[in-house]
Amino acid sequence: MEFAESLLLWYKTNRRDLPWRNTRDPYRIWISEIILQQTRVAQGLDYYLRFTDRFPDVAALAAAPEDEVLRLWQGLGYYSRARNLLAAARSMNGVFPDTYAGVRALKGVGDYTAAAICSIAYGMPYAVVDGNVYRVLARYFNIDAPIDTTAGRKYFAALADELLDRNHPDLYNQAIMDFGATVCTPQSPECARCPLAESCAAHASHTETSLPVKEKKVKTSTRYLTYLKIVAGNHTFIRKRTGNDIWKGLYEFPLIETDKPIGDITRLTEMPEFRQLVGDKPLSLRMLHKGIKHVLSHRILYADLYEVILNENATLPDYLRIPLADLPQYAFPTLHRRLTECE
Ligand code: ADE
Repeated sequence: MEFAESLLLWYKTNRRDLPWRNTRDPYRIWISEIILQQTRVAQGLDYYLRFTDRFPDVAALAAAPEDEVLRLWQGLGYYSRARNLLAAARSMNGVFPDTYAGVRALKGVGDYTAAAICSIAYGMPYAVVDGNVYRVLARYFNIDAPIDTTAGRKYFAALADELLDRNHPDLYNQAIMDFGATVCTPQSPECARCPLAESCAAHASHTETSLPVKEKKVKTSTRYLTYLKIVAGNHTFIRKRTGNDIWKGLYEFPLIETDKPIGDITRLTEMPEFRQLVGDKPLSLRMLHKGIKHVLSHRILYADLYEVILNENATLPDYLRIPLADLPQYAFPTLHRRLTECE
């Protein structure tokens, strides 16, 4: 049996029943694909349901304030994707584009997402190439071309296009992704129950787990974040992150960022950045939480949280002064919430 045929047969009885699979609405498929780019299905499901419940169509999303969109996205990470969703929705004039070029031109939509939307919503013959597809194809055909080079990517894109079932591009694309996510998994693929194992070239040569190949190693850097929960009576201070760094558009407590650990509380109080924020005479200072580790794709973060008590009338230039009770109304990065929730 051919590759595509075997996959479709497998998909018939093994497909996951997911809410965005019971619709042809390009808007909903777009939302699901953007969420699934960064999250496993199990975690993304709730976000998808809440997001589409609150914003059931393009017009509803386009009318939303950015803060609300980010709040619904809170915890998913990669917040630029949420901002791009909003920008794209606002660019559509209420109508989702119905051509590949129109979809591909949307902010935040690359080759993968355009192929997914156009095949699943419109049945157009575009093959998706995501991490699952690289893995399944690299193994089945035992290909060691690196997937992070231009030449490698071109090679896989051409192969994916050749294999696509043009009569069922929607089913074929979802089948290969589901198969990669549940059978041909990264660390311990389930070859014993794989319907393609007999004809899989990597299986024959025992190279499954060393494929696919990447040329470059991801470089990670470590950063140390010291957050200050500054309390003035029943108020505290936060600000919105701007600039082109991570977490743009989300809120945070005053933050001192260093490339080495600060050390102890005395060293903190000696830092000019600390004095600049809280002045010379905080009423009290104590550590609330130390050394929470948070791993992102290119960064390892260690975060500490201190509480600083100031006079109840204190103000802080450049920061919003908000009632402590209002903290849940703002979108914070996951690390920030982990720190403040374990107080
Ligand atoms: N991962 C991302 N999108 C997917 C889809 N539509 N089906 C299966 N896995 C996916």
